[in-house]
Amino acid sequence: MPESHALASSTTAAARALPALIQGGMGIGVSSWRLARAVSQAGALGVVSGSALDRVLAYRLQEGDAEGHLRRALAAFPLPDVAQALIEQWFQPAGLSAPGAYRQPAMIDHQPRPSTLGLVVAANFVEVWLAKENHQGPVGINLLEKSSAANLASLYGALLAGVDAVLMGAGIPKDIPAALDALAAHQPAQLPLMVEGALPGERFLLHFDPASVGALAPDQRPALRRPPFLAVISSDVLAQSLHRSTAGAVDGFVVERHSAGGHNAPPRGARQNGEALTYGPRDEADLERLLRLERPFWLAGSQGYPGALAAAQKLGAQGIQVGTAFAQCQESGLLPELKSTIHQLRAQGKLCVDTDPTASPTGFPFKVADVPDTLSEADRYEQRQRICNQGFLRQAYRREDGRIGWRCPAEPAAAYIAKGGQAEDCAGRKCLCNALLAAIGHPQAGPNGELEAPLVTAGDCLAWTSDSEVIPSAADIIGWLSAVDCQADKQPSGQSY
Ligand SMILES: Cc1cc2nc3c(=O)[nH]c(=O)nc-3n(C[C@H](O)[C@H](O)[C@H](O)COP(=O)(O)O)c2cc1C
Repeated sequence: MPESHALASSTTAAARALPALIQGGMGIGVSSWRLARAVSQAGALGVVSGSALDRVLAYRLQEGDAEGHLRRALAAFPLPDVAQALIEQWFQPAGLSAPGAYRQPAMIDHQPRPSTLGLVVAANFVEVWLAKENHQGPVGINLLEKSSAANLASLYGALLAGVDAVLMGAGIPKDIPAALDALAAHQPAQLPLMVEGALPGERFLLHFDPASVGALAPDQRPALRRPPFLAVISSDVLAQSLHRSTAGAVDGFVVERHSAGGHNAPPRGARQNGEALTYGPRDEADLERLLRLERPFWLAGSQGYPGALAAAQKLGAQGIQVGTAFAQCQESGLLPELKSTIHQLRAQGKLCVDTDPTASPTGFPFKVADVPDTLSEADRYEQRQRICNQGFLRQAYRREDGRIGWRCPAEPAAAYIAKGGQAEDCAGRKCLCNALLAAIGHPQAGPNGELEAPLVTAGDCLAWTSDSEVIPSAADIIGWLSAVDCQADKQPSGQSY
């Protein structure tokens, strides 16, 4: 058997050995190491979000790392010179001088400085390492294909920590299996970079060489395990195309419906101007076709109710992936006050979730929960002064001189237009980077000291746990989801698998 096929079959076998219940990756920092760890210890697959972890680590070190977790993880980082430099640069024993007064790490682009790469690699290592510390349960990492600039360095950091699965959606991650093969051998890897306005035939690549991070030569570094790769997809057509274009190297699929929290795939078929997003039968994946690929798959989107797991398995799935229920549990990274408000609203039947077609700078529809005092309130959003200082969702574009620039439709409109962007692209865009960081307790202070407001994303299925206002633990949710009997009253309407 050729070596690549042998590797693919062993990683696919590893995917089949993953738990039936996956806690979905939730950025930024909602599925933190604490949540993934609690889930993993309770027998399911805990998944940390790898999104923007460079900011999360730099901010938490500036806040003083009161419990010492970050410095303990950095002490275990196999590239000690990198860890030392990060502590010197970011750790502030006395914490922040004022709320939101964070120093900003450089925004990552296609030519990051070694210090930026070191921060990204170490941050992903820290998150996975803490989630896996002192137990044997499996931990995965979730990355967005679309925010590609940090992905190779993020994957390398997760591999250094022994991550057990890589999950990636929001794009077509066909080059990830080959990148994982290279990085697991400490070899340079590359990914295509989508550049808006690229001329026909122009191709741009992102490169990452593990040797560029840390003084230790790659052949002196610990041997790494190549984990299975699961692609998060919304249609069987995409699954088939990924299967073909990677010669079967995608080890499994998470089939995510448009009712899921976070970003959603746009509806198939043309949308009329000004019309609300309308999903129909064409947006449901054909599971029969998926079964023919002979890869394990998990159903996601409105699966957070008792009986969903058994129902999914009857349809041939290995299990389910659930996000929204876990986002609201004790161990999630969401601010406790946001969780309390959400639980109260939900218990009173007053929690609404909209699919916003324009909020996300990525252009993908994004689920927004209507929660008071967050950016879901239109006037709150209008009052915000636009600023782009995180850059996680920026898009590469071709400048007139042929070089690559970066822009975001949520940045100040004048700056976006000066970079060749269209004014109409700016309408309704929200700075998800800052809003999601605020939702996990890291709001940036603006020029006048005002703090960024949070934004909460959640899926349509709010059926989780009891109707009480008590916030459950991750283990409570796992116990509840593992119940075999379907509680018909908890099954969300419109569920069509
Ligand atoms: C708060 C929140 C943040 C999310 N962030 C991400 C993300 O960063 N990447 C991703 O692939 N999926 C993300 N998701 C989707 C989840 O991983 C999961 O697939 C989805 O929540 C499952 O559907 P459910 O919300 O109905 O349980 C997010 C979901 C929530 C609720």
